[in-house]
Amino acid sequence: MDEVSRLHYLQEELKRYNREYHELDAPTIPDAEYDALYRELVALEIRHPDQVRADSPTRRVGSLDLRRNVRLVQHREPMLSLNNGFDVRDLQEFDRRVRTGLGVDEVDYCCEPKFDGLAINLLYRGGALVQGATRGDGEEGEEVTANLMTVKSIPRRRQGSEPWPEWLEVRGEVLMLKKDFEQLNRRQTGAGERTFVNPRNAAAGALRQLDPAETARRPLAFLAYGVGGCSPDFELPDHQDALLRWLGMLGFPVAEEVRVVQGESGLRMFFEDLGARRASLPYEVDGVVYKVNARKAQQKLGFVTRAPRFALAHKFPAEEALSTVEAIEVQVGRTGTLTPVALLKPVFVGGVTVTRATLHNDEEIRRKDIRVGDQVWVRRAGDVIPEVVKVVQELRPAETVAFEMPATCPVCGSPARRLPEEISWRCSGGLHCPAQRKQALLHFVGRRAMNVEGLG
Ligand code: IVH
Repeated sequence: MDEVSRLHYLQEELKRYNREYHELDAPTIPDAEYDALYRELVALEIRHPDQVRADSPTRRVGSLDLRRNVRLVQHREPMLSLNNGFDVRDLQEFDRRVRTGLGVDEVDYCCEPKFDGLAINLLYRGGALVQGATRGDGEEGEEVTANLMTVKSIPRRRQGSEPWPEWLEVRGEVLMLKKDFEQLNRRQTGAGERTFVNPRNAAAGALRQLDPAETARRPLAFLAYGVGGCSPDFELPDHQDALLRWLGMLGFPVAEEVRVVQGESGLRMFFEDLGARRASLPYEVDGVVYKVNARKAQQKLGFVTRAPRFALAHKFPAEEALSTVEAIEVQVGRTGTLTPVALLKPVFVGGVTVTRATLHNDEEIRRKDIRVGDQVWVRRAGDVIPEVVKVVQELRPAETVAFEMPATCPVCGSPARRLPEEISWRCSGGLHCPAQRKQALLHFVGRRAMNVEGLG
């Protein structure tokens, strides 16, 4: 394919991915892959500027669903995007450009979690919520006021004695807390309804409900990260951290993790620290956001096309990725437990390359309907062992067969048995089974038992 054909191909592909992500809440490629294709397209468009049409995915922020009967509303200030950084070099480059732009040696940054939810604009008049909208294309979003009114952590009217501007746009992210997501998926499973791959998709689905009563049944949360427009006669705090504290005083939830740091080494420390705590945070984050703390300095740096020069989103490795189940193997444990394991096409997820994922037991496989040949979402969060979250049914090849637990142990051939109170099958061979013998020996010499240092 020549460069121009590749460019057109990428424009179309990325448009499709945008639709899947923003409108259908059912992405079919991992974010990291999307980002890579996006960057490739940007590079090609720089080399072939005559091929860049107004509807190119690089000229748009998010995408809009014009088919549905929704009201589009104009944001008073556009909702822009953030430039992404993926490694230390991007971070150094960002800090260097900021210092050069401001003509200073060191910069104070406000560091925040990058919430993995949906960008929302809340418009208040006289301290009352009058309109809530999604980001849409950045200029206009879908009006979802009634649905947002059901979100408990969004203030509906002013409380306390803090003065409010006559009108104010509060920006933030609607998301689902991890614990609420797990509970929702359990409920969906119990009711035989579809489950969600991650809290973000669950939150998007909830926000899109046509019936606000349905949204109210799905536990959504809100976290504020900034302000859009504001009455011109009102003086906003002059630093980002103070702005967040002020929003907190008005009654908006803001992240406790926010810190002000100095210079590039401060950014790095924040990134490492939040990365280490990522798994234990109550909500999902896909990175951190660095913002020049002084708002005057932000204004001085300004914007390039769709993103501010004063901020950078430094992404964490994605915790979910798509892979293919190449085979399902049955593993024999120390006490004979037969555990099915998916052998996967190697995939980079959660910062490591994953080739296997436990499928727990045959009931779990039936419930998720996992078959050899399927494209699946693989998840590896923190140190937790990789899991197959969900099959992409739309991509299932023809003629797949459902998995069946073998009637005999795959290692020694003894009959497999299942006790009435257990969900797992076991090899009945005991220590005659070479697999059980080996695992028993490993256990015996291991750290948790005899702690033998070496064994010949
Ligand atoms: S500031 C002009 N702060 O990231 C800058 N955005 O690519 C406006 N996001 O969908 C964004 N956490 O909703 C900002 N702490 C944070 C954020 C954050 C998540 C989202 C935002 C938008 C995307 C920008």
